[in-house]
Amino acid sequence: MRTQVAIIGAGPSGLLLGQLLAKHGIDNVILERQTGEYVLGRIRAGVIEKGAADLLDEAGCGARMHREGLIHDGIEISFGGARHRINFKNLIGKSVIVYGQTEITRDLMDGRAAIGAQTIYEAEDVSLHDIGTDRPKVRYSKDGQTHEIECDFIAGCDGFHGVSRKSIPAEVLKTFERVYPFGWLGILVDKPPVSDELIYANHERGFALCSMRSPTRSRLYIQCRLDDKVEDWSDEAFYEELKRRLDDEAIKRLQPGPSIEKSIAPLRSFVAEPMRHGRLFLAGDAAHIVPPTGAKGLNLAASDVYYLWQALVEYYKRQSPAGINAYSARALSRVWKAERFSWWMTSQLHRFPESSGFDQKIQRSELEYLVSSQAAMTALAENYVGLPY
Ligand code: FAD
Ligand code: DHB
Repeated sequence: MRTQVAIIGAGPSGLLLGQLLAKHGIDNVILERQTGEYVLGRIRAGVIEKGAADLLDEAGCGARMHREGLIHDGIEISFGGARHRINFKNLIGKSVIVYGQTEITRDLMDGRAAIGAQTIYEAEDVSLHDIGTDRPKVRYSKDGQTHEIECDFIAGCDGFHGVSRKSIPAEVLKTFERVYPFGWLGILVDKPPVSDELIYANHERGFALCSMRSPTRSRLYIQCRLDDKVEDWSDEAFYEELKRRLDDEAIKRLQPGPSIEKSIAPLRSFVAEPMRHGRLFLAGDAAHIVPPTGAKGLNLAASDVYYLWQALVEYYKRQSPAGINAYSARALSRVWKAERFSWWMTSQLHRFPESSGFDQKIQRSELEYLVSSQAAMTALAENYVGLPY
């Protein structure tokens, strides 16, 4: 088989890139290790920046997001028993959209089916070859048979555990990492949200987040230990712990219900550089991970895709390699700013097991400064709604 761009991974980055390229007449094939249903079953991000929403529109897949997504003009930060609103709209005139990654993935899959572009699900043993030449290849097996795709470029959109980043020679790839000493235990429940906006809570027992997917569906998280097991957390124990970390008004409005999903995510900051090697480009979680506190994971995947899509269009339509050559530096410049913001949000809102009395006083003082300073709130707002592409 031959295509122009072989895309590894049918998560948000792979599907969005595939759709944007196809819209500009650039042929592509997506190879995905899992089934489509499996990909859709993963409950992940929920907050969409304007830039990512615009890109989804550009891909022709944004209609349902505009119909069903919830526009949020701010967030609430809770500490010391009180809540403080950060009003994005007033501070910088922008908002975010609350719309689940699952829904975005479904919209992109439907869009891809509608234009008849090819996705090969359950592709096993995907391997990358000749990425240092201008005729790279991807091999995979399916139903016991080995196949090969010849292409011009490979887009590694296969997430943190994918094969693409590992195909870059070790002497070329530099990685930077911080692993946090806690995780997030999250549940999804068919009950109305506790508040109209997201509540990010700092409490001495640990962080908590009250988010949502719709006016009738809540997504709730609490900071947990790294060695905690999902099976050991009953719904009752989850709500008990969540309530301890919320303010009185939130506790009053919390409607416990049976969880329809429950999972634990570890928290990590990670960046691999460069994001291009020869004819291979990395995009999204394949190149970087942020702790979820700033809601940046999916949004960063979208900005990578934006730069890569522009670079490939420039290559095919204007015969210019300039965008391709600049891709890694352009993407990484925005990646590191989001890494910084996510690290900062994580540091301010969680209880670190090793923190001293001094560390805790500094953390509280930083939060008090934040909610009393127009400048500090503006800095948070600007980063939360997303820095420009
Ligand atoms: P992925 O979504 O990981 O997609 C990669 C795809 O590649 C997958 O479908 C995978 O099956 C496929 N793949 C992997 N290896 C291979 C292979 N060898 N061959 C073929 N295909 C392969 N972000 C937030 O902003 N907020 C959150 O609350 C949040 N929660 C998260 C919870 C978890 C458990 C995780 C893992 C991530 C979370 N994120 C969150 C991050 C966000 O979901 C990711 O940043 C986003 O999914 C990145 O999209 P992606 O397409 O780059 O990677
Ligand atoms: C959600 C996840 C986040 O990491 C975040 O910062 C905000 C919302 C969510 O899943 O709804």
